[in-house]
Parts: sequence; C-alpha cells; structure tokens
Amino acid sequence: MTSKIANSSSSLRGKNILLGISAGIAAYKSPELVRLLKKQGANVQVVTTPSAEKFVTHTALQAVSGNAVRGDLWDENAEAAMGHIELARWADIILIAPATANFISDIATGRADSLLATLCLASEAPLLLAPAMNRVMWENRATQHNVKTILERGAIILGPDDGEQACGEVGLGRMKEPDQIIIEAEQYLAQSSQPASPGTLSGKKIVITAGPTREPIDPVRYISNYSSGKQGYAIALAAKNRGGQVILISGPVNLPTPIGVNRIDVSTAQEMQSEVKRHLENCDIFFGVAAVADYRPLTIASDKIKKSKSSGKNASIKLELEENPDIIAEVAKARPRPIAIGFAAETQAIEKNARDKLMAKGLDAIILNDVSKDDIGFNSDENAATIIWRDGKSHYQKQSKSSLAEVLIDKIEDLFLSQEEVPQKEVR
Ligand code: PMT
Repeated sequence: MTSKIANSSSSLRGKNILLGISAGIAAYKSPELVRLLKKQGANVQVVTTPSAEKFVTHTALQAVSGNAVRGDLWDENAEAAMGHIELARWADIILIAPATANFISDIATGRADSLLATLCLASEAPLLLAPAMNRVMWENRATQHNVKTILERGAIILGPDDGEQACGEVGLGRMKEPDQIIIEAEQYLAQSSQPASPGTLSGKKIVITAGPTREPIDPVRYISNYSSGKQGYAIALAAKNRGGQVILISGPVNLPTPIGVNRIDVSTAQEMQSEVKRHLENCDIFFGVAAVADYRPLTIASDKIKKSKSSGKNASIKLELEENPDIIAEVAKARPRPIAIGFAAETQAIEKNARDKLMAKGLDAIILNDVSKDDIGFNSDENAATIIWRDGKSHYQKQSKSSLAEVLIDKIEDLFLSQEEVPQKEVR
C-alpha cells in the first residue's frame, strides 16, 4: 500500500504520543499505526486495556514502538516502564485507537479501573479517539450519549468510517485506517500549535445548527428532508479557523466533526431547540443553517403502523401534524441576544419569501438558497447564495460550500462586527 502521508515536517515530529489500545478487532492495525507514528518522528508509548491483548500482542507492539508496553494497573514489571502518573504527564496527546464502545463509556463516566482509563483521567493532554465497533453499537443511544458527553468535554473523535465490518454488517463503525488517523492527528496538532494571533472571531462564542431534523411517526419511520449538513459544517470550520469558540448542534448527518469544534448531536426539532437554549448564554453569533422540520406528527405510534387489510387502490391514511418551535425566532427574541443569521431554502418567489422570513423571525440577516436547482443547495458540494439584511443584499456565485462559508462570514463581520474593536496582533 502506498502511504498517503509524508514524513518531512510532520507536526507529530518530536511529540510524545501515548497510544491507547482497547479490545476491538481493529487492534490488529495497531502495530501499523505505531510504525507510521514513529515514521513521522513521534515518540510512542503504548498502553493497552487488559483484554486488548487478545487482539494484538505486547511483543509486537514493543518491537515497533521500541518501548515496554503496559496493560495492567498493578503490573509487577512496571518499574521498568514509566509509572501511570509519569506517563499521564509525559503525553502531548493521548490517542485511543481502536476506541471500543466500552472504553468510550469508561471515559464518559470517568472510570479508573484500568491503567488506560486511569491515564486518561489523570492527564491534561488532548484526547483523540478513533472509535471502532459494530454499527448497531455505534448507533445505540447509550453510545451516542457517551460520545456526546466526551465531545462536550473537548475530546476529538476521528471517525468512525462507513463500510464493511468484521461482523459482516455494513455501516458506520469501522476504525479509520492508520494513515488517515495520522493525517487527522497531524491536522489537529498543526491547528492547535498555530501562533496565538487572534483571529477575527477570537473571543466570540458561535452557535450553529446544521443538518436536518427527524420527526418520528412510528418506531421505524420519520419526516425529514435532504439537508446533508455540509453547508453548516463548512461554516463551523470557517468560524473555528477564525478563532471562534464554535458549538455545532447537528441533526443526523454523515460528516466528520471539524477538528476543534464542539459538536452536539440531536435528532428532533425539540431536541435541537433545547440544546440551542442550553448554549445560548454569552453567544455572540447564532447561525441557523439547519433545515428544521416545521411540523411533527401529533402522536408517535408506539408500534409500526400496519397497512390496513382493507386497503385498496385509493386507500390513504391521515397523519396529523403539529407545529414545531421556531428555534431561530426564539433566539432573536432572547435578551440579551446574539447576532441572529438565518438561512432560507426557497423554491419560488425566493427573494420575497426570504425577506419575509428575515422580518417575521426578527433576524439580522438571512442567507437565501435556491433549492430548486440540483447542483446547489441541499446535499451538493457547491452552493450559491444571496445574503439579505434590512437595508441591502449581496449575491455570491456558485462555489464550494467551504469558500461560500468564508465570504459569508467576511460579509457578516463587515456588517455587524466592524464597529467593534478588531483584535490586533501583538506588536513587539
Ligand atoms: O445541509 P446542506 O445539504 O449543505 O444544505 C444546506 C441548506 C440548503 C440546508 C442550508 O443552506 C439552508 O438553506 N438551511 C435552511 C433551510 C430551511 O429550513 O430554511 P427555512 O426557510 O425552513 O427556515 C428559515 C430559517 O429558520 C433557517 O435558519 C432555519 O434554521 C430556521 N428554522 C426553521 C424552522 C424552525 N422550526 N426553526 C428554525 O429555527
């Protein structure tokens, strides 16, 4: 296999990486991960959970890392290696790959019953985890709750990938390939070591909603829309790169979390509403990029709705819907309130409809997307948009969602932040 990673000037060079391995089948890739970390110039110490040794031997890991491998909190040979507090202080990064559902749960609940979990608890180093598990385990609400908890505490989740799994199923849950883990760890280090010159959004708290919401009808069906989350995630990354503290409240999407962004996963509009409320304090700018379902079923059937036995050619069923809360309108009404930027997905009378929403919801600006075209708007990689505010508008031609995010934020800074003191670079 040709490696996609280069080893010159890697941000991993000289860094102390504590590689934690928990007991998943993907641990067979760990020696390769150690080899690549070493190739990038990192110093590597490996710690396994007790059961991880069933998938990969200490002998192999010791041979590639060049250091004694630890797995037991009460290891009699530990004197030959660093003590656990020493190791916790030594690490510049703790990278857990594979991170099993069980280990993620240990981290979320703050357990200290294995050497590896104790190290994570005792260290101030950034924690990066590459989850690996069966897709149903990944999707399980308990796992998602644990992931959400550790993300809120600042952990970085790399993956998981979508694809064929060791158990024969196909879906999200595969561990990222070692070379991809290296690339993302390097990106994380490169970004976190950038000189502390304040970006244009430095010191600002930015809350962004993205993706669709899902409104359940019965245990197996829901109402939703085609939003992929791509535009909202691009805005989150751009705002984070400008120094903002970004909280991304995301509906169900299949996108990696931008590194350094605090992501909170939700499913329904009501869940999105409550997370927005929870994070609104001290928020400077709110971006409502999510395509929130305007209505939800009035009742959710507890069992799967069956096709009626008497159904014929023209059979129909009625679904009674009730209105969802208007999240962004509530944000705009809050006092104190952030700058409130909405998005409008329109198919007809687009400018009039967007302007009506700007006024009705009490927003500072609204970004109009024409979603009647296939190559922009929902789920495409490119977008075109018109930003409309009370006294004007500007149009941006079709471009990647990332570059559109940059020009839109430039405009918002111009319109709403230029009166404020702009952070200056330190002059020596
Ligand atoms: O996710 P992508 O595939 O990248 O696509 C991006 C996008 C097209 C979804 C995005 O650019 C976009 O236009 N998002 C808003 C879509 C939408 O639902 O528009 P709306 O006109 O229904 O809502 C207007 C505004 O009110 C939006 O800011 C929306 O987040 C907000 N809203 C709507 C309803 C509701 N109950 N609560 C809300 O906060």
